[in-house]
Amino acid sequence: MTSLAVVPGSFDPVTLGHLDVIERARNLFDDVHVVVVHNPGKSAMLPVARRVELIEQSLADAGIADRVTVTSWSVGLLVDYCQEVGATALVKGIRSEVDVTYETPMAIVNRDLAGIETVFVLPNPAHAHVSSSLVRQVASLGGDVSTYVPAAVSRFMNSSDFS
Ligand code: PNS
Repeated sequence: MTSLAVVPGSFDPVTLGHLDVIERARNLFDDVHVVVVHNPGKSAMLPVARRVELIEQSLADAGIADRVTVTSWSVGLLVDYCQEVGATALVKGIRSEVDVTYETPMAIVNRDLAGIETVFVLPNPAHAHVSSSLVRQVASLGGDVSTYVPAAVSRFMNSSDFS
């Protein structure tokens, strides 16, 4: 039997910290689904389809695309998706105690709801300060985000398709 884990997130946009977490999930499980969760209550910088595309490009550029499926999910609970595809675990990155505080209740609820365990991984500390919200803020004020995001993302954010 093959093991399957889900790495969920908003990925608006995917950062080098996210790639680190996906790579660690891929080292632990046979197959990984990276799921872009669309939160209708949250205004996003990038459309979901673009977020999926940028993750796919970034994984391919990093040579870690095989055994990883990138998709999106907007209907219902994340654990419903996990059960639909047969995933037994969620993988999340922990940068600091702030992340532990934020992630712990979600992990317990997901386990209560469907027995889905959450595996916390520690990303490279070099990425500890990197978040999508920081990238969005720097980009919106005209700053350079290329040290925080994969090359595919910075290429897109410097292109005429992004304004
Ligand atoms: O990248 P983010 O925004 O920190 O990701 C948060 C996300 C999408 C993983 C979280 O909001 C989530 O799991 N949403 C799915 C909705 C759900 O299942 N909620 C109930 C259990 S927490």
